[in-house]
Amino acid sequence: MELRLGLIGYPIKHSLSPWIHKRFMQQTNIEGTYRIVEVLPDEFEQLITRIIDSYDGFNVTVPYKQKIISYLDELDENAAKIGSVNTVINVEGRLIGYNTDGIGYVRSLESSFPEIMEKKKSKILILGAGGAARGIYVALNQCGFQFIDIANRTKEKAEAIAKLRKKSTTTEVIGLKQAEEHIGNYSLIVQTTSVGMLPNQDMVPIQLHHLPKKVNVSDIIYQPFWTKFLKEANDKGANIHHGHTMLLYQAQYAFEIWTGIRPSLENMNRDLKLLLE
Ligand code: ATR
Repeated sequence: MELRLGLIGYPIKHSLSPWIHKRFMQQTNIEGTYRIVEVLPDEFEQLITRIIDSYDGFNVTVPYKQKIISYLDELDENAAKIGSVNTVINVEGRLIGYNTDGIGYVRSLESSFPEIMEKKKSKILILGAGGAARGIYVALNQCGFQFIDIANRTKEKAEAIAKLRKKSTTTEVIGLKQAEEHIGNYSLIVQTTSVGMLPNQDMVPIQLHHLPKKVNVSDIIYQPFWTKFLKEANDKGANIHHGHTMLLYQAQYAFEIWTGIRPSLENMNRDLKLLLE
């Protein structure tokens, strides 16, 4: 039987997920399809039940990552904590929601900067407090990091994320200006805001004048491949972690949820880079 997979969101015509999941299916000899299901916000309520019933598994993206929850039968612990779902599996009609973003980020971090995984006392700064930041914060905390600060334009949103911390964790919420001044305190900076994403590629969320050399810097934006923020960090001598790797690892985890098989990312990293550069 063919595996019926898809992506629900709007607008998603240019999504890279079909390319990634078709490669995973070829590699694992699984017959199936991965369709783009663009659902207009006006039509969501009316169409969603019929759509979700006809898939074995699907991804959910903007603007439906929260809205989908009321249509599901069960949430895994991580998705429930984050309050956002990007992957659903249909188990004999029972819909179970997961969020693979944060774990995808942590897996990609491990592949790019393996040494930091051994230093759980490292100080981390997350820039941004949107849905992606929430998932990444919880996943970093879950895998043992205990000093994770959050800088955001709107402090209340960062404070809401900080409430999700484990008891042993210290999180300070700061503003973007403060982040610029204290950037030298951190071993890892994770840029999760939408600032610098195409078509606004000339913007940066903060200035990096005080960035020391050899700091690890991630940007989860993958279009453009080189955000202005990453270019500036690179010029300052930072170790760079590009956004397309998180995209690959979150997809790998989603595929694993649907099939039980962890596909290899060998060659895909290089090929996706070629597509995006
Ligand atoms: P996602 O789900 O992809 O994380 P999001 O929930 O829309 O996206 O979050 C976007 C993030 O980018 C937020 O942290 C947002 O800051 P606010 O919480 O203050 O809105 C941040 N962001 C977007 N535009 C920004 C800008 N011009 N300057 C600073 N931060 C910005």
